[in-house]
Amino acid sequence: MEERQENGSTEATGQVQDSAAATQRGLWGSKAGFILAAAGSAIGLGNIWRFPTEAANNGGAAFVLVYIACVVLIGLPVMLAELSLGRHTRKNPVGAMLAISPKGLWWLVGTLGVLTGLAILSYYSVVAGWTLGYVVKTVGNTFTPETDAGAVFGVFAGSWWQQLLYHAIFMGLCVLVVIGGVKAGIERWSKILMPTLLIVLGLLVIRSVTLPSASAGLSFYLNPDFSKISMKVVVAAMGQAFFSMSLGMGAMITYGSYISKRDNLVTSAAWVGGADAGIAILAGLMVLPALSLAGIQPGVDQGGAGLIFAVLPSVFSQMPWEPYGGIIFGTAFFVLLALAALTSAVSLLEVVTAYLVDERGWARKKATSVVAAVAYGLGIPSALSLGAVGWLSAVTTLQGKTLGFLDLMDKIFGKLTLTFGALLICLVVGWVWGINKAAKEIENGNPRFLLRPLWSILLRFLCPVAIATILVYLIIDPSVIR
Ligand code: PHE
Repeated sequence: MEERQENGSTEATGQVQDSAAATQRGLWGSKAGFILAAAGSAIGLGNIWRFPTEAANNGGAAFVLVYIACVVLIGLPVMLAELSLGRHTRKNPVGAMLAISPKGLWWLVGTLGVLTGLAILSYYSVVAGWTLGYVVKTVGNTFTPETDAGAVFGVFAGSWWQQLLYHAIFMGLCVLVVIGGVKAGIERWSKILMPTLLIVLGLLVIRSVTLPSASAGLSFYLNPDFSKISMKVVVAAMGQAFFSMSLGMGAMITYGSYISKRDNLVTSAAWVGGADAGIAILAGLMVLPALSLAGIQPGVDQGGAGLIFAVLPSVFSQMPWEPYGGIIFGTAFFVLLALAALTSAVSLLEVVTAYLVDERGWARKKATSVVAAVAYGLGIPSALSLGAVGWLSAVTTLQGKTLGFLDLMDKIFGKLTLTFGALLICLVVGWVWGINKAAKEIENGNPRFLLRPLWSILLRFLCPVAIATILVYLIIDPSVIR
């Protein structure tokens, strides 16, 4: 609030409420600051690591279409619900639920969110650690056109000390940012990062789509084959939408709690959702045409968390001005990806931290360090599950495919509990707190909420029915979560 320009035309009540909130727990510096920070939370490994892998494994263009439908019809309404609940209550997910329903059991939804955040953070930090390791590798010119990038990844992922080291460095970075507090820590970083990421991504896309061998991957990614749309694809696309938009576990409730009453939540959500989906689709355009470089047939299930790390180095080694072009672009890419992962991981850490600070009265520094330490410990089995420790690398098989611990964590927490959490959030905001109260909150900063009837129908009927159908289907046939 301190840095906000006073705007003479704004409502006096909004200002009074804002200044109370600002002195107690901090607010974003501006609407743009919030959008960048929320986009920072949304844009991360989900877009660049997870989206292309899901698209490659789930029918390419067919997946992209279902994904876009999920973002527009389900993701955006749920995001608006989370933001309005957060701004209204000015609380973390558990506190927010208690504020609207002090006697009910809905606070458990918040608790599920906090636990999900902790679990996602644990393996997210492992993958983010890989990006740090790859900064070192690209700077050292490890990748030439002759290098077998898949084999390099295998050796790297199988090295227990490198896995634990990079996981530790990344978690340490998160702690530093979150201790800095909402505005100073999170907002400042996001401002520089997002635009730069977009530029580097754009240039890499140009290289990738002009590769001589790009056409098979490109047509797989852009030419929809509708017969490929199956329940498995819908489950994957919906889970991906929630994961990528940081929904279903209260990150957007928490970030919403720092938004000024004068900001327009609808346009904010549209910006964040649009930027997030745009970056994901660009990332697909960078990765899929390059699959053939790594000897991978598009359309054949590749599974595996390591896909982009096995594919992208081949793109970098094909950059002009060899080897410098590759070194420069490769390094820039992995640095930016590490930073994008940082702004996302920070939002995961922030959810759990805000809970301990608001609800349990912990000091911010203590809460941040303890949560990070726990997430680090929880991440160790994931870190060792890509070859370093045999049984962690093959904890279960689903439809003949071996899953390691990290993949399993991502299925359970990155897909299942997020989807379940999103369903409960629809029910809480649409029915328990009530659509009228939620809409009234949204009208702060947006007095003519024209989409209100549409939003109300989507949030109360379409979203819960669609999400519940998916969950029921998952119970009947768990293998669709592959
Ligand atoms: N949305 C983030 C990403 O795409 C991950 C994330 C999920 C962050 C859930 C917060 C909450 O990388």
